[in-house]
Amino acid sequence: MGSVNTDTVFAVAALPAPGETVLAAAQSTHPGGKGANQAVAAARAGARVQFVGAVGDDEAGLLLRRHLHDNGVGTEGLTTMPGPSGSAVITVDPSGENTIVVAPGANGAWALDSGQRNLIADCDVLLMQLEIPIPVATAAAELAHASGATVILNVSPPGGDVAELAGLIDVAVLNETESARFHHQVPHRVVTLGAHGARYRGSGGTRTVPSPVVQAVDSTGAGDVFAGVLATEWAGGIEHALQRACVAGALATLVAGAGDCAPSAEAISAALEAFTPGR
Ligand code: RIB
Repeated sequence: MGSVNTDTVFAVAALPAPGETVLAAAQSTHPGGKGANQAVAAARAGARVQFVGAVGDDEAGLLLRRHLHDNGVGTEGLTTMPGPSGSAVITVDPSGENTIVVAPGANGAWALDSGQRNLIADCDVLLMQLEIPIPVATAAAELAHASGATVILNVSPPGGDVAELAGLIDVAVLNETESARFHHQVPHRVVTLGAHGARYRGSGGTRTVPSPVVQAVDSTGAGDVFAGVLATEWAGGIEHALQRACVAGALATLVAGAGDCAPSAEAISAALEAFTPGR
């Protein structure tokens, strides 16, 4: 469950500093949105996925709905709201680092309907992020929690009052910056470390899992792929899920754009097999 955006990506020599204007070497458009990216990553990794979220009643909304459908993601829970779909402006530098600004559009203007509530009450794993209204995420977490599902929250972007929501989640997935700002106790905390893999702390102990070394071209969406694969594999054990998520996140950086960078289950298995930590 989460956001669906159209990403406009500008390739720049250096990310703009505050007050600075920079010229882009290239511009491209991709499907995106943390929710959609994570749903597609989970579906490609082998999960049966139903998406819950909102698009606008514009052309972008139709294209984004088709993108999810074409990737095997169920769209019965994708509602259409009057007004524009979500969009994002992304700058990417030659090392693959990025900045992202999101205009929420439909993602910021919806509430759960009965069909969406039924989908959530039926799921085994609810995976969310924070590009949707926090009350909507909290209501979904309540439903999933009550039905015994695993609730995973990618606490991104940070900010807002998530105290009530935090009390309903099983797994928090955050990058290091987000983790430093998230002070709630959760049963499982997974911190992504970029090229260095991921760190786990929780009722399963503590551990750090490395990532394969790759020549990243675009890190946008890599965290989403990590979260989608982690959710897909969570029931198989923490170590197993972390390993596959780290490998998938690394593979995602080899592809430009966030919405189409997730590897298949077979590609994750092959890369995991070939991967020698630290090489
Ligand atoms: O995590 C990357 C995503 O963040 C982009 O696709 C953009 O749309 C924003 O949601």
